[in-house]
Amino acid sequence: MRLDFTGQTVVVTGGANGIGLATARAFIAANASVWIFDLPGERPEAVASGIGARGIVADVTDRSSLEAAFDLTGPPHVVVANAGIGEFRRLEETSEDFWNHTLAVNLTGVFLTLQTAAARMKPLRRGSIVIMASTNSYDGEAGFLAYNASKAGLLGIVHTAANELGPYGIRVNAVCPGLIRTRLTEALFRDPALAKPYFQHIPLGRGGTPEEVAAAVLFLASEAAGYITGATLLVDGGQMAAKYGTWNEAAAEFAGDRWRLR
Ligand SMILES: NC(=O)c1ccc[n+]([C@@H]2O[C@H](COP(=O)([O-])OP(=O)(O)OC[C@H]3O[C@@H](n4cnc5c(N)ncnc54)[C@H](O)[C@@H]3O)[C@@H](O)[C@H]2O)c1
Repeated sequence: MRLDFTGQTVVVTGGANGIGLATARAFIAANASVWIFDLPGERPEAVASGIGARGIVADVTDRSSLEAAFDLTGPPHVVVANAGIGEFRRLEETSEDFWNHTLAVNLTGVFLTLQTAAARMKPLRRGSIVIMASTNSYDGEAGFLAYNASKAGLLGIVHTAANELGPYGIRVNAVCPGLIRTRLTEALFRDPALAKPYFQHIPLGRGGTPEEVAAAVLFLASEAAGYITGATLLVDGGQMAAKYGTWNEAAAEFAGDRWRLR
């Protein structure tokens, strides 16, 4: 099925890089009118104009900034709450400032995006919101206490917002990516000593691409997912299904960026 968003306004927060940018591109390829929201340093206007979208400086931690941005876009049909940060910090090194900032962007930022967008979408009795959660919404990963708490909190937002917005015809779902190659994760992808043991636990034997996450976002945003709300979709190469690891040296080898059977 080819997804088509002709006539639809799509907003992607954090759309100037990585998964957000790939998502913006995919919506444009599916004929949507796309707006990228991002921080000033990421030059959302310039990035957007390079891909046939429009860009606005908007900080998801700041309600007035989001209000002004949604005033410009008009009521969106689709909102992808994707903006997020994630930095390694062990428990004993996690300062209150670090904790508060991570939650401000990843959790409060999604709440503010959702609340601001929903107020404009409800009168139209239609729409779809897709939240960028993570496999870390479900399981632990040492060194990511604040990040994992923020991403786990997003599941509560998805479930509750789906209840409240369903009567208005607005669906709310989440995509939960595993390890995806972006600037956040580039160091691991580049270093076989890190990638090899990590990918050993992924049934598909490799990390994912931003485009593979974007495809899941478009599906959930589209009419093809018309009866899906309050759901989460793992895009993780099977990582969450693999308790003891999939690959071993007896039958396979790690070559380049992935495990392959010999
Ligand atoms: N890369 C992965 O492996 C992975 C895995 C699971 C989930 N995710 C999630 O996917 C989302 C995108 O991550 P990515 O890997 O593409 O990272 P990225 O750094 O390439 O993109 C994140 C974008 O969010 C923007 N952003 C940050 N703070 C913002 C704010 N206050 N207001 C507006 N925009 C802001 C950044 O400027 C950037 O453009 C994040 O929510 C991340 O947690 C990523």
